[in-house]
Formats: sequence, C-alpha cells, structure tokens
Amino acid sequence: MQAQKTHAVEGVHELDFNSAEFQRGFKDIYARMHASGCPFAHSASGDHYAVASHKHLTEALTKPNLWRSKYGPGLQYQPEDMPGVLVSVDPPEHTFEAKVAGRAFSKAYFDSFIPKMQAWLDNAIDGFQAAGRVDMHKSISEAFPLFVIFEMFGIPLEGRTEVFRGEIKKGVGLMLTPGDFRVRQAGDTRAVSNPMFQNHLDACKRKLASGEFAPGENLITRFLTAEVDGQRLSDEKIMGFCAFLLAAGSATTTILLSNLIYRLLSEPEEFAKVKADPSLIPLAIEEALRIDAPVQGLFRTNDEETDLGPLHLEPDTKVMMLWAGANLDPTVFDNPLKYSLDRDPEVVRRHVAFGYGIHICRGASLARLEATLFLETLMRRLPNLRIGGEVKQELSMPVLQGIAELPLAWDVV
Ligand code: HEM
Repeated sequence: MQAQKTHAVEGVHELDFNSAEFQRGFKDIYARMHASGCPFAHSASGDHYAVASHKHLTEALTKPNLWRSKYGPGLQYQPEDMPGVLVSVDPPEHTFEAKVAGRAFSKAYFDSFIPKMQAWLDNAIDGFQAAGRVDMHKSISEAFPLFVIFEMFGIPLEGRTEVFRGEIKKGVGLMLTPGDFRVRQAGDTRAVSNPMFQNHLDACKRKLASGEFAPGENLITRFLTAEVDGQRLSDEKIMGFCAFLLAAGSATTTILLSNLIYRLLSEPEEFAKVKADPSLIPLAIEEALRIDAPVQGLFRTNDEETDLGPLHLEPDTKVMMLWAGANLDPTVFDNPLKYSLDRDPEVVRRHVAFGYGIHICRGASLARLEATLFLETLMRRLPNLRIGGEVKQELSMPVLQGIAELPLAWDVV
C-alpha cells in the first residue's frame, strides 16, 4: 500500500471525483474553481491533486522528463515491472512507440475506410428510419466506433458490440478507483480480449509469411511490419496496443458522437447555423470537444519534488490533468460554458480534449472523421431530428463524461 502522498491545502478545492455530486455537477464545480482564481483541486479519497488551469496543465505537459507516465494514466500506481504501452511509458520507449503509431495511423489510412464507414451508417439508419425514433447512443454511438476499430484490426465484430462495451466499461470504469493496481486488474479488458488478439496476431504472422497478407492488410500487420530506426514492436507490445486501442479508440468516440448531436439538438440556434452552412461542421465538432471533453482527465506523476501552482509536490505524486476543466478556463475561452460557433476557430482549437504534449491523441483525425460522417448522415437522413425522451448520463466510467441513453425522434416521410 502506498504511503499517503497528498494533503488538503488552504484555498485548494477538495473534490471527490467519484461522487455523484461531482459527476452530476462537474462543470459548475470547474466554473467555481476558475472563478476562485485557484483552478487546482485535492482529492483526499483518491490521494491525488488535479489541475484545471490551461496554462499550468499545458506547461507541465511540455516537460515529459518531469511529468512522467510510467505509473499509468489511471489513479492507481501501475507497477513499474508491468509492461505498458503509449500512455503508460516515457521517452525513449514512448518516442519509438509514438513513431510506430504515427505511421500506422496516417490520415490516408483512416480515409481509406470512408466508404465502409458510410455504408455502415446508412445501413444502420435503414434499419430504424421507419420507426421514427431510436436510442441513438446504443444504435450508433456505441456500435459505430467499435465497428470501425474492429475493421481496422481486421477482426469481424459479429454482433459482439455488447460484449466489448461491457469489457470496456469494466476496465475504464476502474481508472479512477482508489486502491491496489494489481487487485484492480481483475477487471482489466485484457483478460477477456487477450485470446482473441493472440489468435489474430498468430494468424496475421502466418499469413504475412505465406504472402496471403500484405504488410498493409490491417492494423496488426502494420504494427508487425513497421520498422522505426531498425526496431520493431514486440508481440507483447502489439497485444498491449490492441488492448489499449479497443478502449481508447472506441469509448471516447462513442461519447463524442452522442455529446455532439445532443449538444446541437439542445442549442437549436447553433444547429441552424450548421444546417445553413455545413462548412461549420468541423467547428461544431471542435466546440463540442471543448465544452464536453469526453475524457475528464488522466494522470501523471512528477519524477522530482516540484511546485505546481499553489501545490508543493513530493516525488511520484499522482496529479490529474483535467482536460475537461482546462477546456472551461475563462482565461483562454471567453464565457466558457456557452456553446458558440461564433468563436475564433484558432481559439477553439486550443482545447485539450485530445491531451497535450508528447502523448497527444494519435487517433484524433479518426475521431473527427467519424463525427463528421455521423453528423452529415443524421442531418441528411433524419428530417426534423429532435430529442425524443429522457436523456440519461453514463455514471459508471467517471474518467469519461457522457451519455448512456439518447432517445431521438424525427419525421417519417
Ligand atoms: C473523441 C475521441 C477521442 C478522445 C477525446 C481521445 C482522447 C485522448 C487523450 C486525452 C489522450 C492523451 C492521453 C494522455 O496524455 O495521458 C489520447 C491518447 C491517445 N489516443 Fe485518443 N482520443 C480519442 C479517440 C482516439 C481514437 C479513435 C484512437 C485510435 C484509433 C485513439 C488513439 C490514441 C492513442 C494511440 C493515444 C496515445 C498517444 C501516446 O501516448 O503517444 N484515440 N487520446
């Protein structure tokens, strides 16, 4: 058990990030933190600090030698002997992995999936259009990003959306839970997905060797064959990439899709602007990412004793970088709680919903692409789209913020 690392500090807000009060009202809490002039928090229950100041957060993340990822992105200290990938490793290990991910995730590669993505969306809408109503969260927001990431893996999803959503919820749901990391691993997504990824990895290797698969066949063959500075990913690392991408590449985008359409339907004046001028779609997506950041925040630990704003930190203290809080910082975003397409796009793009610094999201352009196709398709195919019932929030994964049920209705013509 870790010795207590943190303590309450005068003037610093005391928060329980797992509490219902926080989850239901975190935007008002961030607004109060910013208004107080001290956008920092301490959590006694989690034994960590948190930073919602855009300036302090971005400055910290330009110093990856001080602000380390080796203990993992969640609240628990990931043991140093546990092999991690990407968000759980530091340079130089991270530099190599980021280059491999950067190569595998080119915009051209993502764009090559547009026809399949569009066909999937149209097919899903064909299935429910005549009913005039649907839970959009379940029918598209959950299923579409999973379909896309499985297409990229080269593994048929075969109607297993529910199974993988369950796995992801268990794993991601524990990221903010205090306690021992190894015990928490009982709910790790890797426990269930491992055999599937292992079998697929073995098959990809065989088919590459026999010439049946080209190096660009799928993400796994791309990872297997990507060579950077004469080095390749180990099998263990490829399995780690798969487990990470299963959650990071789908649960986050799920939230973006539902948040985006819910936000536009709740702000009819802004939605009217998008309908009149679809070239505003990219800005509508960025502004939704800013005001409704899908990931609440992720952790770093400081390698040395240091100060962060009013906080004095002993080495290896867990500090939550609050993407959602920094996105509401009034020193950067005027009137931050207002969803507005009149903002300067350059300012909106300073949001940190995709993180900041060396660990910045490698799938951001895919998430933006999925959101664009989703919104365009809904606008084209579902006339007079509106909220059709009670919208429920997802409270089982406190590290993410989003919707669990989104009943929508439209005119059947
Ligand atoms: C709206 C959707 C998404 C959001 C809000 C999001 C958010 C984030 C954030 C905040 C980070 C930074 C983690 C940190 O600094 O600790 C990150 C990293 C990452 N994301 Fe995303 N993400 C999204 C979609 C995706 C997708 C679709 C993929 C891939 C298919 C993806 C792949 C990654 C990878 C590989 C990293 C690790 C980068 C590194 O450590 O170098 N993400 N994401």
